[in-house]
Amino acid sequence: MADAETIWTALEEAGRAAEGRSIAGLFDDPGRLERLTLEAAGLYLDLSKQPWSLADFDLALCLAEASGVADARTRVLAGELFNQTEGRAVLHAALRAPAGADFSAAGVPVSADVEATRTRIKSFADGVRAGTIGGAGGRSFRAIVHIGIGGSDLGPRVIWEALKPLDPQIDLRFAANVDPAELAQALTGLDPAETLVVVVSKTFTTQETLANAETARAWLRGGLGEEAANLHLAAVSAAPARAEAFGVPADRVFAFWDWVGGRYSIWSAVGLSCAAALGFEAFEGMLAGAAEMDAHFNSAPMHRNAPVLLALAHIFNRNAMGRPIRAVVPYAQRLRLFPAFLQQLEMESNGKRVDVEGRPVRRATAASVFGDAGTNGQHAFFQLLHQGTDVVPVDFVAVRQASEGDPAAQRKLLANVIAQAEALMIGRPTADEPHRVFPGGRPSSFILMDRLTPQTLGALVALYEHKTFVEGVLWRINSFDQWGVELGKALAGEVLKDLEGGEGAHDASTANLIQRLR
Ligand code: F6P
Repeated sequence: MADAETIWTALEEAGRAAEGRSIAGLFDDPGRLERLTLEAAGLYLDLSKQPWSLADFDLALCLAEASGVADARTRVLAGELFNQTEGRAVLHAALRAPAGADFSAAGVPVSADVEATRTRIKSFADGVRAGTIGGAGGRSFRAIVHIGIGGSDLGPRVIWEALKPLDPQIDLRFAANVDPAELAQALTGLDPAETLVVVVSKTFTTQETLANAETARAWLRGGLGEEAANLHLAAVSAAPARAEAFGVPADRVFAFWDWVGGRYSIWSAVGLSCAAALGFEAFEGMLAGAAEMDAHFNSAPMHRNAPVLLALAHIFNRNAMGRPIRAVVPYAQRLRLFPAFLQQLEMESNGKRVDVEGRPVRRATAASVFGDAGTNGQHAFFQLLHQGTDVVPVDFVAVRQASEGDPAAQRKLLANVIAQAEALMIGRPTADEPHRVFPGGRPSSFILMDRLTPQTLGALVALYEHKTFVEGVLWRINSFDQWGVELGKALAGEVLKDLEGGEGAHDASTANLIQRLR
């Protein structure tokens, strides 16, 4: 077999040949639909509207083989220190494995700890819902305020939005931003005596989260007094001692581990607020759906492997066809936050410019991801998707049966998503006037699920986690560190000192802005 570099070159050539070619014309190949569609863990994936021919697709599969995707998958699950720059294993799959699994991180068994924590999450969630775990004054918790940011926030927000009942027993609210407006809004109308504040931070050092946690604690203290306030706190952290030092009672601190990356952490106690607000069965259902996708990813042959195929389709657009942006459009209002979740998952994981050996990468890495729910997006950015000068590939996500509401409206929603994918591909190349021309040839992936359930949501998130991993292997980068967020954090500390009277050295523009704000 040719080496990966030779195959990359051939794939780039294939991309140039695909430029301007009609995607619709590729359906003349009778095997196309069969080879480019598959089902996994309750998700149907259609990659036939991508710009690749079946020969290109075969070439992409060769790239996966030559790049050692299968071997990397084995090594990561074996608990090797796959996140080299931080010296950590990468084992979020261990968090959703069925009971009795046997994972180790760098030789240290972890599955017993995972199961013990899962049991604690269950009894806490059950207790909160039953009212046996309640506030200091004996009242049940009717609201939870989840404080965290990035990976400690986005996943739980997506889960809540996707699965929350129309009339929830527990009102779950979120505050991530250090902008005081968000926490002020989250706390408005709540009674401290019936509110649980869950502080989620892997490091328990994040500026935004600690600032919000302090404000929320002061709000609790103001309503309940100092001692009682602490009984309205729970925390989730890989640094549990710091959470206890903050004042959270030890039996309300839930640990996770350094081998769980922040953006891969929704399967850990980071999902505690959701488990309490939705019920543990929902949390367990998500784990089961993700575990099903794990089993598929680990055992399906490469050419029928959903995360591998999705990664290859994205790589074909990104590297062979030079497309730096991708849109993600869930045609499900309940999934409207999914694009934001993917933004962090993909851009923080794979927005890297050096490879695992620290050398500059040879080709472009993560695409920029953006999106919003359909049909709303159709009345905003779809103009550019259809007629803009850049070709922006789209991932459509659709749900056959709505969780609620009018079935006729749901049919309209589905008609729109199908029509958009078709319109982007077919276009309307001839029209009387130039501004009515749609060039077509605009690629999309289509992911369809029967219903939006904890299981299908878990499978969907795991699908994208694995696809992000596969891309990282193909690009030879470390998908599990995030050094790029450090510089801004450090400078914010310096600027804060200067806003409060310090005299740090800055460039003229920065110094001027600081002066204006003082
Ligand atoms: O934005 C950087 C980051 O480190 C993310 O990776 C992480 O999810 C987020 O900050 C929050 O970190 P923590 O959970 O430690 O508060």
